[in-house]
Amino acid sequence: MQESSNQFNLSDYLAQSTRVVDRALDSFLPGPRIKPSTIHKAMRYSIFAGGKRMRPALCLAAAEACGGSPELALHAACALECVHTYSLIHDDLPSMDDDDLRRGRPTSHKVFGEAVAILSGDALLTLAFEILAQSSPTRRYSVSDAIQELARASGSIGMIAGQVADMEAEGSQQISVKQLQYIHASKTAALLSCSLRLGAMSANATPARLQALSEFGRHVGLAFQVVDDILDVTQSSDRLGKTAGKDQAAAKATYPALMGLSRSRRQAARLTQKAFDAIKPFGAKAKALHAMADFLLHRDY
Ligand code: IPE
Ligand code: IPE
Ligand code: MG
Ligand code: MG
Ligand code: MG
Repeated sequence: MQESSNQFNLSDYLAQSTRVVDRALDSFLPGPRIKPSTIHKAMRYSIFAGGKRMRPALCLAAAEACGGSPELALHAACALECVHTYSLIHDDLPSMDDDDLRRGRPTSHKVFGEAVAILSGDALLTLAFEILAQSSPTRRYSVSDAIQELARASGSIGMIAGQVADMEAEGSQQISVKQLQYIHASKTAALLSCSLRLGAMSANATPARLQALSEFGRHVGLAFQVVDDILDVTQSSDRLGKTAGKDQAAAKATYPALMGLSRSRRQAARLTQKAFDAIKPFGAKAKALHAMADFLLHRDY
Protein backbone atom coordinates (compact mmCIF):
# COMPACT_ATOMS: atom_id res chain seq x y z
CA MET A 1 0.00 0.00 0.00
CA GLN A 2 1.21 3.50 -0.85
CA GLU A 3 2.09 5.77 2.01
CA SER A 4 2.97 9.44 2.12
CA SER A 5 6.59 10.38 2.55
CA ASN A 6 6.33 11.28 6.24
CA GLN A 7 5.85 7.71 7.45
CA PHE A 8 2.14 8.03 8.13
CA ASN A 9 0.78 4.49 8.40
CA LEU A 10 -2.24 4.69 6.15
CA SER A 11 -3.08 1.01 6.14
CA ASP A 12 -3.39 1.00 9.97
CA TYR A 13 -5.39 4.21 9.81
CA LEU A 14 -7.84 2.81 7.24
CA ALA A 15 -8.16 -0.52 9.06
CA GLN A 16 -9.03 1.33 12.26
CA SER A 17 -11.57 3.65 10.61
CA THR A 18 -13.17 0.70 8.79
CA ARG A 19 -13.53 -1.15 12.13
CA VAL A 20 -15.22 1.82 13.76
CA VAL A 21 -17.51 2.50 10.80
CA ASP A 22 -18.47 -1.16 10.32
CA ARG A 23 -19.39 -1.52 13.98
CA ALA A 24 -21.60 1.57 13.75
CA LEU A 25 -23.19 0.44 10.48
CA ASP A 26 -23.97 -2.91 12.07
CA SER A 27 -25.84 -1.10 14.84
CA PHE A 28 -27.69 1.25 12.45
CA LEU A 29 -28.90 -1.40 9.98
CA PRO A 30 -31.88 -3.49 11.09
CA GLY A 31 -30.84 -7.06 11.94
CA PRO A 32 -31.09 -9.71 9.22
CA ARG A 33 -33.97 -11.41 11.02
CA ILE A 34 -36.09 -8.27 11.43
CA LYS A 35 -39.16 -8.55 9.19
CA PRO A 36 -39.24 -8.43 6.24
CA SER A 37 -35.94 -10.27 6.51
CA THR A 38 -35.34 -10.35 2.72
CA ILE A 39 -34.80 -6.61 2.53
CA HIS A 40 -32.56 -6.46 5.61
CA LYS A 41 -30.48 -9.36 4.33
CA ALA A 42 -30.13 -7.62 0.97
CA MET A 43 -29.08 -4.30 2.58
CA ARG A 44 -26.47 -6.09 4.70
CA TYR A 45 -25.29 -8.21 1.77
CA SER A 46 -24.22 -5.10 -0.14
CA ILE A 47 -23.01 -2.98 2.80
CA PHE A 48 -20.83 -5.72 4.28
CA ALA A 49 -19.40 -6.98 1.00
CA GLY A 50 -16.03 -5.32 1.67
CA GLY A 51 -15.83 -1.92 -0.03
CA LYS A 52 -12.82 0.35 0.51
CA ARG A 53 -14.84 2.60 2.88
CA MET A 54 -13.10 5.67 1.47
CA ARG A 55 -15.97 8.13 1.92
CA PRO A 56 -16.37 7.41 5.65
CA ALA A 57 -12.57 7.48 6.09
CA LEU A 58 -12.36 10.88 4.36
CA CYS A 59 -15.22 12.17 6.51
CA LEU A 60 -13.52 11.10 9.76
CA ALA A 61 -10.15 12.46 8.61
CA ALA A 62 -11.71 15.82 7.67
CA ALA A 63 -13.21 16.05 11.15
CA GLU A 64 -9.80 15.39 12.71
CA ALA A 65 -8.10 17.90 10.42
CA CYS A 66 -10.51 20.52 11.77
CA GLY A 67 -9.82 19.59 15.39
CA GLY A 68 -12.98 17.51 15.82
CA SER A 69 -13.46 13.92 16.90
CA PRO A 70 -14.29 10.78 14.93
CA GLU A 71 -17.23 10.05 17.26
CA LEU A 72 -18.98 13.27 16.28
CA ALA A 73 -18.48 12.52 12.57
CA LEU A 74 -19.58 8.89 12.79
CA HIS A 75 -23.25 9.42 11.89
CA ALA A 76 -22.25 11.33 8.76
CA ALA A 77 -19.62 8.72 7.88
CA CYS A 78 -22.20 5.91 8.03
CA ALA A 79 -24.81 7.94 6.14
CA LEU A 80 -22.28 8.52 3.33
CA GLU A 81 -21.49 4.81 3.05
CA CYS A 82 -25.23 4.00 2.88
CA VAL A 83 -25.74 6.49 0.04
CA HIS A 84 -22.64 5.22 -1.76
CA THR A 85 -23.69 1.55 -1.45
CA TYR A 86 -27.19 2.35 -2.68
CA SER A 87 -25.67 4.09 -5.70
CA LEU A 88 -23.62 0.99 -6.51
CA ILE A 89 -26.62 -1.36 -6.24
CA HIS A 90 -28.61 0.81 -8.64
CA ASP A 91 -25.60 1.49 -10.91
CA ASP A 92 -25.28 -2.30 -11.42
CA LEU A 93 -28.94 -2.90 -12.37
CA PRO A 94 -29.70 -4.39 -15.81
CA SER A 95 -31.31 -1.08 -16.83
CA MET A 96 -28.12 0.80 -15.94
CA ASP A 97 -24.59 -0.70 -16.20
CA ASP A 98 -25.88 -4.28 -16.09
CA ASP A 99 -23.08 -5.73 -13.96
CA ASP A 100 -22.89 -9.18 -12.40
CA LEU A 101 -20.02 -8.65 -10.00
CA ARG A 102 -19.56 -6.05 -7.25
CA ARG A 103 -17.17 -5.97 -4.30
CA GLY A 104 -16.06 -9.46 -5.27
CA ARG A 105 -19.57 -10.94 -5.07
CA PRO A 106 -22.53 -11.43 -7.42
CA THR A 107 -24.47 -8.16 -7.62
CA SER A 108 -27.58 -7.65 -5.49
CA HIS A 109 -30.03 -8.18 -8.36
CA LYS A 110 -28.30 -11.47 -9.26
CA VAL A 111 -28.82 -12.77 -5.73
CA PHE A 112 -32.11 -11.20 -4.63
CA GLY A 113 -33.77 -10.33 -7.96
CA GLU A 114 -34.24 -6.91 -9.45
CA ALA A 115 -37.19 -5.78 -7.34
CA VAL A 116 -35.48 -6.46 -4.01
CA ALA A 117 -32.22 -4.94 -5.29
CA ILE A 118 -34.05 -1.71 -6.20
CA LEU A 119 -35.82 -1.68 -2.85
CA SER A 120 -32.64 -2.35 -0.87
CA GLY A 121 -31.04 0.63 -2.61
CA ASP A 122 -34.08 2.74 -1.75
CA ALA A 123 -33.95 1.53 1.84
CA LEU A 124 -30.23 2.36 2.21
CA LEU A 125 -30.79 5.83 0.80
CA THR A 126 -33.65 6.44 3.23
CA LEU A 127 -31.70 4.99 6.15
CA ALA A 128 -28.83 7.38 5.38
CA PHE A 129 -31.04 10.34 6.22
CA GLU A 130 -32.45 8.65 9.33
CA ILE A 131 -28.88 8.16 10.56
CA LEU A 132 -27.76 11.69 9.69
CA ALA A 133 -30.84 13.15 11.40
CA GLN A 134 -29.51 11.65 14.66
CA SER A 135 -26.17 13.48 14.44
CA SER A 136 -25.27 16.40 16.75
CA PRO A 137 -25.39 20.04 15.68
CA THR A 138 -22.42 22.37 16.23
CA ARG A 139 -22.33 26.09 16.88
CA ARG A 140 -22.04 26.90 13.16
CA TYR A 141 -23.96 24.02 11.56
CA SER A 142 -27.39 22.59 12.33
CA VAL A 143 -28.47 19.01 11.66
CA SER A 144 -30.66 20.32 8.87
CA ASP A 145 -27.58 21.94 7.25
CA ALA A 146 -25.95 18.49 7.20
CA ILE A 147 -29.07 16.85 5.78
CA GLN A 148 -29.27 19.47 3.05
CA GLU A 149 -25.61 18.91 2.14
CA LEU A 150 -26.11 15.18 1.68
CA ALA A 151 -29.39 15.59 -0.20
CA ARG A 152 -27.87 18.07 -2.66
CA ALA A 153 -24.74 16.04 -3.27
CA SER A 154 -26.66 12.84 -3.96
CA GLY A 155 -29.70 14.33 -5.72
CA SER A 156 -30.62 15.45 -9.21
CA ILE A 157 -28.06 18.25 -9.34
CA GLY A 158 -25.35 16.03 -7.85
CA MET A 159 -24.76 12.30 -8.17
CA ILE A 160 -28.03 11.57 -9.98
CA ALA A 161 -27.25 14.31 -12.50
CA GLY A 162 -23.97 12.55 -13.21
CA GLN A 163 -25.61 9.17 -13.56
CA VAL A 164 -28.16 10.58 -16.02
CA ALA A 165 -25.45 12.31 -18.06
CA ASP A 166 -23.35 9.11 -17.96
CA MET A 167 -26.23 7.12 -19.45
CA GLU A 168 -26.98 9.78 -22.05
CA ALA A 169 -23.34 9.93 -23.14
CA GLU A 170 -23.15 6.17 -23.72
CA GLY A 171 -22.14 5.44 -27.29
CA SER A 172 -21.67 9.10 -28.13
CA GLN A 173 -18.59 9.75 -30.26
CA GLN A 174 -18.09 13.48 -29.77
CA ILE A 175 -18.20 14.20 -26.12
CA SER A 176 -15.99 17.11 -25.02
CA VAL A 177 -13.55 17.08 -22.10
CA LYS A 178 -15.83 19.63 -20.46
CA GLN A 179 -18.87 17.36 -20.71
CA LEU A 180 -16.89 14.39 -19.41
CA GLN A 181 -15.66 16.49 -16.51
CA TYR A 182 -19.27 17.42 -15.72
CA ILE A 183 -20.26 13.72 -15.66
CA HIS A 184 -17.40 12.74 -13.35
CA ALA A 185 -17.68 15.78 -11.11
CA SER A 186 -21.37 15.05 -10.64
CA LYS A 187 -21.54 11.26 -10.39
CA THR A 188 -18.48 10.85 -8.16
CA ALA A 189 -16.87 14.07 -6.94
CA ALA A 190 -20.10 15.53 -5.52
CA LEU A 191 -20.52 12.79 -2.89
CA LEU A 192 -16.79 12.59 -2.27
CA SER A 193 -16.55 16.32 -1.63
CA CYS A 194 -19.65 16.05 0.57
CA SER A 195 -17.77 13.45 2.66
CA LEU A 196 -15.13 16.04 3.47
CA ARG A 197 -17.70 18.76 4.10
CA LEU A 198 -19.80 16.70 6.50
CA GLY A 199 -16.67 15.72 8.45
CA ALA A 200 -15.59 19.36 8.65
CA MET A 201 -19.08 20.47 9.70
CA SER A 202 -19.18 17.92 12.52
CA ALA A 203 -16.04 19.66 13.81
CA ASN A 204 -17.57 23.15 13.60
CA ALA A 205 -15.03 24.12 10.91
CA THR A 206 -14.57 27.78 9.97
CA PRO A 207 -16.01 28.73 6.55
CA ALA A 208 -12.44 29.03 5.18
CA ARG A 209 -11.54 25.50 6.28
CA LEU A 210 -14.83 24.13 4.97
CA GLN A 211 -14.07 25.76 1.64
CA ALA A 212 -10.54 24.35 1.52
CA LEU A 213 -11.77 20.83 2.22
CA SER A 214 -14.52 21.12 -0.41
CA GLU A 215 -11.85 22.07 -2.91
CA PHE A 216 -9.70 19.12 -1.83
CA GLY A 217 -12.74 16.83 -2.16
CA ARG A 218 -13.63 18.07 -5.62
CA HIS A 219 -10.12 17.41 -6.94
CA VAL A 220 -9.73 14.05 -5.19
CA GLY A 221 -13.21 13.07 -6.36
CA LEU A 222 -12.48 13.86 -9.97
CA ALA A 223 -9.12 12.08 -9.78
CA PHE A 224 -10.94 9.13 -8.17
CA GLN A 225 -13.22 8.66 -11.19
CA VAL A 226 -10.37 9.17 -13.69
CA VAL A 227 -8.47 6.40 -11.88
CA ASP A 228 -11.63 4.23 -11.79
CA ASP A 229 -11.83 4.62 -15.58
CA ILE A 230 -8.13 3.72 -15.95
CA LEU A 231 -8.45 0.62 -13.74
CA ASP A 232 -11.38 -0.62 -15.83
CA VAL A 233 -8.91 -0.82 -18.73
CA THR A 234 -5.76 -1.98 -16.93
CA GLN A 235 -6.86 -4.35 -14.14
CA SER A 236 -8.43 -7.79 -13.91
CA SER A 237 -11.96 -8.44 -12.65
CA ASP A 238 -10.42 -10.47 -9.83
CA ARG A 239 -8.38 -7.55 -8.57
CA LEU A 240 -11.21 -5.04 -8.94
CA GLY A 241 -13.99 -7.23 -7.53
CA LYS A 242 -16.10 -5.97 -10.46
CA THR A 243 -16.06 -6.87 -14.15
CA ALA A 244 -13.14 -5.18 -15.90
CA GLY A 245 -13.37 -3.89 -19.46
CA LYS A 246 -17.06 -3.01 -19.13
CA ASP A 247 -16.66 0.66 -20.03
CA GLN A 248 -15.29 0.01 -23.48
CA ALA A 249 -17.85 -2.75 -24.10
CA ALA A 250 -20.66 -0.32 -23.22
CA ALA A 251 -19.01 2.57 -25.12
CA LYS A 252 -18.97 4.67 -21.95
CA ALA A 253 -17.60 8.18 -21.94
CA THR A 254 -14.36 7.79 -19.96
CA TYR A 255 -10.99 9.54 -19.73
CA PRO A 256 -9.02 6.71 -21.37
CA ALA A 257 -11.57 6.58 -24.22
CA LEU A 258 -11.33 10.32 -24.75
CA MET A 259 -7.62 11.00 -24.27
CA GLY A 260 -5.81 7.66 -23.89
CA LEU A 261 -4.18 6.07 -20.86
CA SER A 262 -1.06 8.15 -20.43
CA ARG A 263 -2.83 11.50 -20.69
CA SER A 264 -5.49 10.18 -18.28
CA ARG A 265 -2.76 9.22 -15.80
CA ARG A 266 -1.19 12.67 -16.06
CA GLN A 267 -4.60 14.24 -15.53
CA ALA A 268 -5.22 12.19 -12.36
CA ALA A 269 -1.78 13.21 -11.04
CA ARG A 270 -2.46 16.89 -11.79
CA LEU A 271 -5.81 16.75 -10.00
CA THR A 272 -4.20 15.08 -6.98
CA GLN A 273 -1.57 17.83 -6.87
CA LYS A 274 -4.37 20.43 -6.82
CA ALA A 275 -5.94 18.50 -3.95
CA PHE A 276 -2.64 18.60 -2.02
CA ASP A 277 -2.41 22.35 -2.62
CA ALA A 278 -5.90 22.88 -1.22
CA ILE A 279 -5.01 21.37 2.16
CA LYS A 280 -1.59 23.02 2.58
CA PRO A 281 -2.97 25.45 5.22
CA PHE A 282 -3.79 22.47 7.48
CA GLY A 283 -0.14 21.41 7.73
CA ALA A 284 0.45 18.19 9.68
CA LYS A 285 -3.21 18.03 10.70
CA ALA A 286 -4.03 16.90 7.17
CA LYS A 287 -1.54 14.00 7.16
CA ALA A 288 -4.27 11.38 6.82
CA LEU A 289 -6.05 13.30 4.04
CA HIS A 290 -2.79 13.74 2.17
CA ALA A 291 -1.99 10.04 2.46
CA MET A 292 -5.48 9.08 1.28
CA ALA A 293 -5.31 11.28 -1.82
CA ASP A 294 -1.92 9.74 -2.63
CA PHE A 295 -3.26 6.22 -2.09
CA LEU A 296 -6.31 6.87 -4.29
CA LEU A 297 -4.05 8.03 -7.12
CA HIS A 298 -1.78 4.97 -6.94
CA ARG A 299 -4.32 2.29 -6.04
CA ASP A 300 -4.75 -0.76 -8.23
CA TYR A 301 -8.30 -1.71 -7.16
C1 IPE B 1 -16.92 2.78 -7.04
O1 IPE B 1 -16.57 3.36 -5.83
C2 IPE B 1 -17.87 3.66 -7.76
C3 IPE B 1 -17.32 4.95 -8.14
C4 IPE B 1 -17.79 6.07 -7.74
C5 IPE B 1 -16.20 4.97 -9.07
P1 IPE B 1 -15.47 2.70 -4.90
O2 IPE B 1 -14.25 2.35 -5.70
O3 IPE B 1 -15.26 3.57 -3.70
O4 IPE B 1 -16.19 1.32 -4.46
P2 IPE B 1 -16.07 0.49 -3.11
O5 IPE B 1 -16.86 1.19 -2.06
O6 IPE B 1 -14.61 0.38 -2.75
O7 IPE B 1 -16.67 -0.84 -3.46
C1 IPE C 1 -20.44 4.84 -10.77
O1 IPE C 1 -19.52 4.99 -11.79
C2 IPE C 1 -20.73 6.08 -10.05
C3 IPE C 1 -21.84 5.89 -9.12
C4 IPE C 1 -22.25 4.73 -8.67
C5 IPE C 1 -22.53 7.05 -8.67
P1 IPE C 1 -19.11 3.64 -12.51
O2 IPE C 1 -20.26 3.01 -13.18
O3 IPE C 1 -17.86 3.88 -13.29
O4 IPE C 1 -18.72 2.75 -11.21
P2 IPE C 1 -18.27 1.24 -11.29
O5 IPE C 1 -17.06 1.19 -12.20
O6 IPE C 1 -19.44 0.45 -11.81
O7 IPE C 1 -17.90 0.94 -9.86
MG1 MG D 1 -22.06 3.65 -14.03
MG1 MG E 1 -20.86 0.92 -13.14
MG1 MG F 1 -16.20 2.52 -13.40
